[in-house]
Amino acid sequence: MAKKLRSQHWFGGTDKDSFIHRSWMKNNGLPDDAFDGRPVIGICNTFSELTPCNAHFRGLVEHVKAGVLEAGGLPLEFPVFSCGESNLRPTAMLFRNLASMDVEEAIRGNPIDGVVLMAGCDKTTPSLLMGAGSCDLPTILISGGPMLNGKFKGRDIGSGTDVWRFSEDVRAGVMSRANFMAAESAMSRSPGHCMTMGTASTMASMAEALGVTLPGNAAYPAVDAHRARLARLTGRRIVGMVREDLRLSQILTRKAFANAIRMNGAIGGSTNAVVHLLAIAGRIGTDLSIDDWDTLGRDVPTIVNLMPSGRYLMEDFCYAGGVPATMKELSDLLDLDALTVTGQTVGENIADVENHNPDVIRPRSEALVRHGGIAVLRGNLAPNGAIIKPSAASPHLMRHRGRAVVFHSIEHYKARVDDPSLEIDETSVMVLQNCGPKGYPGMAEVGNMALPQKLLERGVRDMVRISDARMSGTAFGTVVLHVAPEAAAGGPLALVRDGDIIELDVEARRLHLDVSNEELSQRQSTWTPAVPQMAGGYQSLYVERVLQADRGADLDFLVGCRGAAVPRESH
Ligand code: FES
Repeated sequence: MAKKLRSQHWFGGTDKDSFIHRSWMKNNGLPDDAFDGRPVIGICNTFSELTPCNAHFRGLVEHVKAGVLEAGGLPLEFPVFSCGESNLRPTAMLFRNLASMDVEEAIRGNPIDGVVLMAGCDKTTPSLLMGAGSCDLPTILISGGPMLNGKFKGRDIGSGTDVWRFSEDVRAGVMSRANFMAAESAMSRSPGHCMTMGTASTMASMAEALGVTLPGNAAYPAVDAHRARLARLTGRRIVGMVREDLRLSQILTRKAFANAIRMNGAIGGSTNAVVHLLAIAGRIGTDLSIDDWDTLGRDVPTIVNLMPSGRYLMEDFCYAGGVPATMKELSDLLDLDALTVTGQTVGENIADVENHNPDVIRPRSEALVRHGGIAVLRGNLAPNGAIIKPSAASPHLMRHRGRAVVFHSIEHYKARVDDPSLEIDETSVMVLQNCGPKGYPGMAEVGNMALPQKLLERGVRDMVRISDARMSGTAFGTVVLHVAPEAAAGGPLALVRDGDIIELDVEARRLHLDVSNEELSQRQSTWTPAVPQMAGGYQSLYVERVLQADRGADLDFLVGCRGAAVPRESH
């Protein structure tokens, strides 16, 4: 006998409680047979006009619903907190965990059998997967898709990446303010999320590599009819997954995370994927550590030629074959047995795909960067780890010894960086403190500090930068990030002073502060934590309970899978 669907515990009886559950649902016109035991599919929508990357989801969701209906399910859409990267202050990352709580409780508390997650902008993908991971129902994700390529003065420009570039060109005096303003409208030409291989496209690719989306999900532009078709097929497929009882925990296995980490190296993906995948694994209960990023991804070449590591954009990636074609190129490094939401393995999904543009998705023999991936650094400056993305760094700085120039906060940096009397040159190491999970709070994307104007004017375009912050997935440079423990938690980063010598050796995975232990102990004895910027509310809870970057920056009490059972009735 088929297992009784979860939703039937709400809708399947003849008692007072079932009356209540059904009667109110009927006020939208649902007939009696809507509750006849068909799978109820919750569609978890991160639509918001304040999250421009997800502002087209009102249209996209109709295709998901059509697919659910076609397959014999009942689609019920619900909104959740939408973390928009471009507007939320002090940083969208502060609210990723809050959104994940919303998702988890909305899924568990409602009469749904399976879930479609609608994600787009950077934090929406991890927050949805984290929340759903703690419930472990049959779950599938669809991304909103990237914007069309930006076009400016006859060339392609990429979200974020060219903002950083243009901004430095203006400060260096090689781009006019008028051209800078004109590029603003040229960059964002259609609905969708950032079309560089920034965090949104990275996380969409990670979701696809993890096997929680249909193949092809990451790259179809938001406005491509393929995206609407994929939404429809996603709606159909979740109904099948409910009937098969194919749950998230069967897909988000260690094999799947290993595949995703390797794919992150191949696509030149965002450093933000590190904290997000660690947090998602923590929710579903899969063993994954920051060191896995180095050991699993170390030898993976970057073969996807997209900004910020390369030159193309997501539209080009789509036409070349996207994630499936990249997985095919990488197939001997992947676990092809990993199960996906299609009900088939990765190997079966990619059996017949082709690479249509070997300059966008390079053959391994012509990789963009031979050793891509994420390097995990350790040393007395980062006892619990720090990361750097070699494909976005300058080769001549990968081994470097320089004098620290320290900024105690982002405000201190802004006030000081362009001071003509600041003692700094291209060999200096810029150090930013108190921008980690507790310190900012929320671990803002400020680690790729812009260089001092006087050095930009001399043509300097990269320097070693070190912080406990994150950086935008669209950014580039020799930037050491996620230093753990962070300065605000009393990590050694807090003890660095102007003039200290710092050694970076990416090949040796070393980050060393060349100051004696005695001196560091002395400095530690006089260190006091900064006073939190906001007392009370969610921010207080966050600062008190957030884990460090090497553990995914989740809230400690949210780690783990709590399942979907709710033993108590509501009335
Ligand atoms: Fe939303 Fe980049 S700002 S994806």
